Amino acid sequence: MDFTLSEEQLMIQQAAKDFAQNELLPGVIERDETQTFPSELVRKMGELGFLGMMVNEKYGGSGLGTLSYVIAMEELSKIDASASVMVSVNNSLVCWGLETYGTEEQKQKYLTRLATGEIIGAFCLSEPEAGSDATSQKTTAIDKGDHYLLNGTKNWITNGNQAEVYLVIAQTDKDKGHRGINALIIEKGMEGFDIGPKENKLGIRGSDTHSLMFNDVKVPKENRIGEDGFGFKFAMKTLAGGRIGIAAQALGIAAGAYELALKYSKQRKAFGTEIANHQAIAFKLADMHTKIQAARHLVYQAACDKDSGADYTLSGAMAKLYASEVAMETAVEAVQIHGGNGYVKEYHVERLMRDAKITQIYEGTSEIQKIVISRSILND
Ligand code: CAA
Repeated sequence: MDFTLSEEQLMIQQAAKDFAQNELLPGVIERDETQTFPSELVRKMGELGFLGMMVNEKYGGSGLGTLSYVIAMEELSKIDASASVMVSVNNSLVCWGLETYGTEEQKQKYLTRLATGEIIGAFCLSEPEAGSDATSQKTTAIDKGDHYLLNGTKNWITNGNQAEVYLVIAQTDKDKGHRGINALIIEKGMEGFDIGPKENKLGIRGSDTHSLMFNDVKVPKENRIGEDGFGFKFAMKTLAGGRIGIAAQALGIAAGAYELALKYSKQRKAFGTEIANHQAIAFKLADMHTKIQAARHLVYQAACDKDSGADYTLSGAMAKLYASEVAMETAVEAVQIHGGNGYVKEYHVERLMRDAKITQIYEGTSEIQKIVISRSILND
């Protein structure tokens, strides 16, 4: 497949690179330390169109394809994976889910504000006892005629406190199993909806992660996405695209770590020469470069599959599995190449190493991706 980028895609890449260098890089260490992400930066990402990249222009989006989106995701993630996970969740899970399956009223009410970054959204599937095993939802949405009564707890929710709109997956009819699950739109401030304390995480510390508690929240019926019982399929279909975004994030973390290691190895001297001249380092760089290029091909392939209307569940899962493994491996090697300096925050690679780990866990662990991939090839 020819992955030559168009003029427009090159411009998007440059815009994302400039934004990452000029706006995200300053303060990235401090945001990691303080676990904060200023609303001013969210506003700027919205103004530049990063929060609704694939949304149709009539709903305030940039109307771009998935390939443009992953190109931007890679550049943002080279510098700040906390920023890029916000971009990924808002684009791939919240906006895409609403645009694809929402009613016109839901789109008018929520999508435009989400796509412009006026507000941001969260996707709420995981629970204390239902992470990988997503059909085991304990959160209930009991049908009360004109509304659902929502009760339960969601865990590790990205944008947990910063969001204004939450897509919540809950069980309506336990007897129907995964076919008795619904996806509901919840707004911040609804009575009975509480947000737990911020999680103190290993990586993506600037990203706002919380648990959410629902206690007899009355959710109007018109807030349901799709037909009754469509909630689990909604989550799976949405996550299939989300995984392409996280694969692009992983690719960016890997590429960011590699670029830092390459630069460092040409400057740092040991045993009378730049360390890049030692085969021990040069071979590490060769491996990193090769694996990153392979990951990029998988990510671009998945994005092109989605853009062409082909099935992308398999290619997205392969891209996420491979890119996240490469991100972890590359970031660890980048720290090793930096030696003692790699262990110090100012050199950025230790943060990338911590950030890389989550890409093997969220939006389906590496093990879940292997389930998706193996089922797909075995059922073919
Ligand atoms: N598209 C459409 N439908 C799908 C689908 C897909 N990609 N994958 C599964 N389904 C459907 C199946 O067809 C089936 O429906 P039918 O019975 O009607 O055919 C139904 O969903 C149940 O599927 P399975 O029997 O395969 O279900 P399972 O219990 O074996 O689990 C799984 C499948 C793939 C392991 C799934 O549970 C899964 O993806 N788990 C991981 C959950 C996950 O990724 N969580 C991430 C949380 S979100 C997050 O991290 C966001 C963030 O903040 C960054």
